[in-house]
Amino acid sequence: MKIFTKKSELKEFLSNQKADGKSIGFVPTMGALHQGHLSLIKRAKEKNDIGVVSIFVNPTQFDNKEDLDKYPKTFDNDVLLLESVNCDVLFFPSVEEIYAENITSEKFDFDGLEHQMEGKFRDGHFDGVGTIVKALFEIVEPDTAYFGRKDFQQLQIIHKLVEKHNIPVKIKGRPIFREEDGLAMSSRNVRLTKEHREAAPFIYKTLKKARKKFGAKSAKELTEWVEKKLKKHPLLELEYFTIADEQTLETATIIEPNKKYRAFIAVFAGDIRLIDNISLKRKH
Ligand code: PAJ
Repeated sequence: MKIFTKKSELKEFLSNQKADGKSIGFVPTMGALHQGHLSLIKRAKEKNDIGVVSIFVNPTQFDNKEDLDKYPKTFDNDVLLLESVNCDVLFFPSVEEIYAENITSEKFDFDGLEHQMEGKFRDGHFDGVGTIVKALFEIVEPDTAYFGRKDFQQLQIIHKLVEKHNIPVKIKGRPIFREEDGLAMSSRNVRLTKEHREAAPFIYKTLKKARKKFGAKSAKELTEWVEKKLKKHPLLELEYFTIADEQTLETATIIEPNKKYRAFIAVFAGDIRLIDNISLKRKH
C-alpha cells in the first residue's frame, strides 16, 4: 500500500492511474478503523481498479474539544488492517496540509437536511463534514465514494453536497456493521467503560422493538414509548429519538404510503455519545 501525506504527491500518483484508464473508489475515514470501515474499503476494491482511503481526524466537524482530543488514534493497526484488505492507497495528511493556517469551515446550505437531528445537537458539524469531504473529493477526484448508513444523515448530506456543487462523484450508501451483541461498530466504542459497553446493546434492541411496533403505534406514540424505555435505563441517557422521512430527514407526524422512514437515536453512555438508526417498514 502506498501512503501519501502530501496532496500534490497523491494527485500526481492518481492522475497517472486515471491516465491509464483506472477507476478510483474512495473511502474517507477518521481512522481507528473497524470492520464497518473495512466493509466499505472491500466494496471500493470490488467495484474499482484502485481503492483509496483517507485517514484525517477533521477538527472542524467536532463541536466538542474533548471529543476531538480524545478521538482514538491507532495508525499502525489501521495500516495493518488496510493492507489485509489490499487497500492500494492511504492518504494521511496533517491538519496544516488540509487547512493551512485557516482551520474553519465553509458554510453550506443542504436544503434543511443540516438542521435536523445531529445538526440540532452538534453545532456546525455538517459545515465541517461538507468542508472536508468537498476538499477530499477535489484532491482524490474519485469515480465513486462509499459511505456507511451508520451515519445516515451524513450520507444524505453528501448526496446533497455533490448534487448542489455539481461534483462528478457517484455516492454509494452501505449497510451498518454491528458487534455480535448488536452495538453498531464505532471508533468511539473503545472509549466506553466496561459497564457502559455492556449497557450499549440496549440501544439497538430498543430500535428493533420500535421497528416491530411501527404501524401499530403512531410515530408520536412510538417516540414516547422509546423515550420512556430510555428514561428507565440507569446508565444510558437519551439525547433524541426521531422517526424521520429518509429523504427530507424531517420528523414524521403522519406516515404516508410511498415514503420511506427511519428511526434515529442518539444516546449518551457516560461521556460517550453513540448514534444508531434503523429502517422502518410498514406492515401491510
Ligand atoms: P468515520 O466515523 O471514520 O466513518 C467513516 C465511514 O465509515 C463513514 O462513511 C461511516 O458512516 C462509516 N462507518 C462508520 N461506522 C460504521 C459501521 N458500523 N458500519 C458501516 N459503516 C460505518 O464519518 C466520518 O468518519 C467522517 O465524518 C468523514 C466522512 C470521514 C469526514 O470527516
